[in-house]
Amino acid sequence: MDGMKALLTRRSIRVFRPEPIEPEIVRSILEAAMHAPSAGNQQPWRFVLIQDRAALETIGTDHPYASAVEYCPLAVLVCAATRDLPHPDFWAVDCAAATENLMLAAHMLGLGSVWVGLYPKRDRMAVLSRLVHLPDDIEPFALIPLGHPLECPEPPDRYRPEWIRAERWFDAWTFGRADLTAKAEQAEAERKKSVGFKRTDFGLHD
Ligand SMILES: Cc1cc2nc3c(=O)[nH]c(=O)nc-3n(C[C@H](O)[C@H](O)[C@H](O)COP(=O)(O)O)c2cc1C
Repeated sequence: MDGMKALLTRRSIRVFRPEPIEPEIVRSILEAAMHAPSAGNQQPWRFVLIQDRAALETIGTDHPYASAVEYCPLAVLVCAATRDLPHPDFWAVDCAAATENLMLAAHMLGLGSVWVGLYPKRDRMAVLSRLVHLPDDIEPFALIPLGHPLECPEPPDRYRPEWIRAERWFDAWTFGRADLTAKAEQAEAERKKSVGFKRTDFGLHD
């Protein structure tokens, strides 16, 4: 699967076949996660692989939105090693990049996944910290159940040309004008009307 197709067809998968995931596939997915960009290349990510059924079931019942974990053969807990980071404010952003890489790689390799949010919800983080005995300087970030998918949701069209501005906030991006559908243009016109927008308000003249 090419990269663009992978990006545009990935969906959250919450039901899985029970069979285990081959170790080489797990390795590839984690290699993709570790290839993510990070602030100053600090690579704060660490990973705990959870396959124990009792542990997975506990998470599925303790977390309000983690039912997918109950049925997956493997969940990856993405964590951050936060001690002595050169850019400590960025660890969560770095881990988000790694998590997205991980999920896209899983999809490209035929697996399904869903991002089960932990950080910054302290109560959800505490459940995972306790369960897998994380030391104080390791923060749990997100939990990613993985498995062979048992559902295949349609990829939605989320492209919104009206969300793209050029140079200044109140100027539409016109390079892709042919792509601006009538609907998008109408929505944009209505929005401008509703905020009383005038080009001259911003010192701009046609
Ligand atoms: C930060 C974050 C937290 C999320 N937490 C959960 C969660 O706790 N449980 C869940 O089932 N899905 C969770 N999701 C998945 C979103 O619901 C899903 O990505 C969104 O509805 C878009 O659907 P898609 O992934 O199929 O494109 C989370 C996604 C993100 C990025």
